[in-house]
Amino acid sequence: GLTACGGDSGGGNDDGKITMGFAQVGAESGWRTANTKSVQEAAKAAGIDLKFSDAQQKQENQIKAIRSYIAQKVDVIAFSPVIESGWDQVLKEAKDADIPVILTDRAVDSKDTSLYKSFIGSDFILEGKKAGEWLVDDSKTAKGPVNVIQLEGTTGSAPANDRTSGFADAIKADPKIKIVASQDGDFTRAKGKEVMEALLKAHPEANVLFAQNDDMGLGAMEAIEAAGKKPGVDMKIVTIDAVKDGMTALANGQFNYIVECSPLLGPQLMDLAKQVVDGKEIPKRVLTKETTFTQEQAKTALPSRKY
Ligand code: AHR
Repeated sequence: GLTACGGDSGGGNDDGKITMGFAQVGAESGWRTANTKSVQEAAKAAGIDLKFSDAQQKQENQIKAIRSYIAQKVDVIAFSPVIESGWDQVLKEAKDADIPVILTDRAVDSKDTSLYKSFIGSDFILEGKKAGEWLVDDSKTAKGPVNVIQLEGTTGSAPANDRTSGFADAIKADPKIKIVASQDGDFTRAKGKEVMEALLKAHPEANVLFAQNDDMGLGAMEAIEAAGKKPGVDMKIVTIDAVKDGMTALANGQFNYIVECSPLLGPQLMDLAKQVVDGKEIPKRVLTKETTFTQEQAKTALPSRKY
């Protein structure tokens, strides 16, 4: 096994297996479901004993889960922080217990970066920027104003904060483009639909939707259709993620562009976990490789899309 000293391999078992406690955000989106599957499958393949918890998008539940992993003396803790702030205390508890922490997918805003070993995940600012750059390019031929409704991810989460700022930065390039409304849709389909219904009534002049994930875009699509507008035509839609349902909408012409955010973080996470438990130095930041999709590219990619 990896724990040569044999005695205390953590997790309360002495079979030499690494035990990881993973505190997941929830099951809010297709992306999250694919991410959970990736983590569970990769743990199995790597021979890592995984303790998994679902926080239902609540920070207090994640903190509870992390404390229970500390109490169980797991070898390593990994988690995707639902929001960016408020982690210093529990991270300090893990550090005091000598349990390394790896952040996956979402960042924390802790000033003391010694509280975690590594952060593996996407560049969310870049994702927002790519969405905005597509809109700037697409708006070159637009005659009138480009009025954007933005559906933001969970308030206070790293992807919502960063995608909002990346997008805002990119659209500055064209004064025709205006965000007429921006609201939290909590990364879910149901909330995306509900918020879009209200925003469409308040902003009949809107002709573009930027949804910060596919699921909110898919929910909003129902509201757009119910309002008698054609998604992808009367209301252009740009989203982030590129999960199967989003890619299907894109290939069907209902979405116009998707910026990819990869949920397949499991294998790299398990590699990092093994190294860190072995006492090796690991990179502080591991960036995920990602692309973008047009409608044509979605048609090509869809048949072999795994999630
Ligand atoms: O943190 C990643 C984001 O969380 C994904 O873009 C979104 O779909 C998920 O809920």
